[in-house]
Amino acid sequence: MANAPRIDLPSVPFPDATRVPALGLGTWTMGEDRARAEREAGALSLGLDLGMTLVDTAEMYGDGGAEEVVAKAIAGRRDRVFVVSKVYPHNAGRKSAISACERSLRRLSTDRLDLYLLHWRGSIPLAETVAAFERLRADGKILRWGVSNFDTADMRELFALGVGQHCATNQVLYHLAQRGVEWDLLPWMRAQRMPVMAYSPLGQGALLRKPKLAAIAARLRATPAQVALRWLLRTPDVVAIPESADPGHVRDNRASGSLDLDAQALREIDAAFPPPKGPTSLAVI
Ligand SMILES: NC(=O)c1ccc[n+]([C@@H]2O[C@H](COP(=O)([O-])OP(=O)(O)OC[C@H]3O[C@@H](n4cnc5c(N)ncnc54)[C@H](OP(=O)(O)O)[C@@H]3O)[C@@H](O)[C@H]2O)c1
Repeated sequence: MANAPRIDLPSVPFPDATRVPALGLGTWTMGEDRARAEREAGALSLGLDLGMTLVDTAEMYGDGGAEEVVAKAIAGRRDRVFVVSKVYPHNAGRKSAISACERSLRRLSTDRLDLYLLHWRGSIPLAETVAAFERLRADGKILRWGVSNFDTADMRELFALGVGQHCATNQVLYHLAQRGVEWDLLPWMRAQRMPVMAYSPLGQGALLRKPKLAAIAARLRATPAQVALRWLLRTPDVVAIPESADPGHVRDNRASGSLDLDAQALREIDAAFPPPKGPTSLAVI
């Protein structure tokens, strides 16, 4: 990598002890327009240079185009990047998941995914999807698998299949203004020693325009994005995957690692963005 990762970015262990940086790179809106692909790949490359060496993508994003953008960004440094992709629920059958994964591998110009997720639950029985994931793992096409948008009851159902210990993570909506997972899903995952991947950690940008967040950030001489991300990184089992195609924003997000969130800031955050007071069903986008 052009620059060695700075030391102020914590790492998060998966159940198999593999560590990834607590800040990765999202790609949801990438690969939709060829004219923007160079800029998007450049932003991802910069993020990788700065140590955010986990990239989250999906066959859904840009109809495969995002995976092609990721391929450009990781060219020449595949071994130093943790690549996550996701299978559509309707492609998550015993055979179809294997074909979907092979298509993702081709678009990503790689021979394996570090992590393959079921994007959300569909009508195909979980046992079939898990059987396909285990086949892909045995064949070395994926190194580990997990799920996304699973609520606590879904996780319990997965674990009841007897293979839950092979599930590496659950990727869910989690940011300052969406804290419902703190009630039971996060504690449940913590009990299984399973990290959470927080998607839309900046509330898709809308969170950053909230006056209460701006006020807290101003007192800390930080940006709203830095506060929102640093808050997610306050616990050792959260990986946040902000997306940006803007180099300035990528640097801004990376700088969250060195922000000091003092006790006063944490109190102000809890007052402005309160934790859940009871169980709520999982919010999804
Ligand atoms: N599993 C799932 O179902 C699921 C669902 C949603 C998302 N995801 C994953 O999570 C990733 C992130 O979520 P997201 O893309 O929904 O939203 P997000 O990361 O919360 O927000 C992205 C938006 O914030 C802007 N932004 C980024 N950094 C900024 C900064 N420092 N200052 C100001 N604006 C900034 C970006 O614009 P610029 O490009 O201009 O910076 C973009 O408009 C996705 O890309 C995807 O990989 C997964």
